[in-house]
Amino acid sequence: MSEPPLVDVRGLSRTFDVSKPWLNRVLEGDERRLLKAVQDVSFTIERRETFALVGESGSGKSTVAKMVVGLLQPTDGSVTIDGVDMWKGSAAGDIKALRRRIQMIFQDPYASLNPRWRVGRIIADPIRAFGLAKGKAEIEHRTGELLRLVGLDPLDARKYPHEFSGGQRQRICIARALSSKPQFLVCDEPTSALDVSVQAQILNLMRDLQDQFGLTYLFISHNLAVVRHMAARIGVMYLGRLVEIAPAGALFSAPQHPYSRMLLDAVPDLKMSGRPRKMIEGEIPNPIRPPPGCAFHPRCPLATDQCRSEVPLPLAFQGRTVACHEAGAGRI
Ligand SMILES: Nc1ncnc2c1ncn2[C@@H]1O[C@H](COP(=O)(O)OP(=O)(O)OP(=O)(O)O)[C@@H](O)[C@H]1O
Ligand code: SF4
Ligand SMILES: [Mg+2]
Repeated sequence: MSEPPLVDVRGLSRTFDVSKPWLNRVLEGDERRLLKAVQDVSFTIERRETFALVGESGSGKSTVAKMVVGLLQPTDGSVTIDGVDMWKGSAAGDIKALRRRIQMIFQDPYASLNPRWRVGRIIADPIRAFGLAKGKAEIEHRTGELLRLVGLDPLDARKYPHEFSGGQRQRICIARALSSKPQFLVCDEPTSALDVSVQAQILNLMRDLQDQFGLTYLFISHNLAVVRHMAARIGVMYLGRLVEIAPAGALFSAPQHPYSRMLLDAVPDLKMSGRPRKMIEGEIPNPIRPPPGCAFHPRCPLATDQCRSEVPLPLAFQGRTVACHEAGAGRI
């Protein structure tokens, strides 16, 4: 029997209350405003797999990431990792043990490193917190090992974050993430703040580490070329919902959702096949007042009356999941 997926996300939703304070609402006659940042998102990630989330700014990618690692409580739905429900019904001990096995890497490596701590202390902090090594010598040895693993020098442990370049700082973040011996890494735009020349080095390092330690990744990026390089399967998000999930090759060769098609058409043609590049059309609607029915309908060239009134439910076919009334009808 095959192993169950490591990560199982079901019906995940998060609403933010973005209303003005109560008194202002009463005096100005304003209504309560709720922003549905993530709605009914479901996906699984197999062990040692990279699953990517893509979508324009504000589509809910980071909100999903925060709920998956346990930083933000869902309004609804569940996140189950290796059989442990992150938010409901699991024993406190199981959740603590799970937290060690999940780490997150953020976009801005400088903001996520304490500027007043030496690198050695930054990397050793999770080792101490989870009791993974005892005594100064053992901790220093482990810190040196981790620095070497990410292509830095063990002597770098004595320096402060500001003494490094952006790429080196992201290497430090990766070393810190690995120090608790995690199984699952959630990477939110890990290379977007870096120079193009450095991005490839960091992405290759992440792939090497994945092979070496059997890591599972949830990888978030707005850069489709990066996602294609990293992920086995891709989830496309639009205004808080997952509109398509497909294996990377299938998504790039034949997207089945009109929004996936629009995103891919905007990617520069690396193969120089002569395909014209189309700019992404239209603007993302206000998430506080999303369009009724399919939220993509004001931008969709295939929209019908049904699209303007009924939310399309995700439908599984040919190894992918697509939420579109016209999927499979041969019009996309
Ligand atoms: N704490 C919060 N309070 C209120 N609204 C929020 C909060 N966090 C996120 N949002 C809103 O939720 C929506 C989704 O935001 P999110 O940061 O998840 O998008 P994203 O896909 O990660 O975007 P980006 O590509 O810009 O990082 C946005 O409309 C955002 O303004
Ligand atoms: S459901 Fe309708 S509007 Fe939405 S993507 Fe499909 S065809 Fe376009
Ligand atoms: Mg984000």
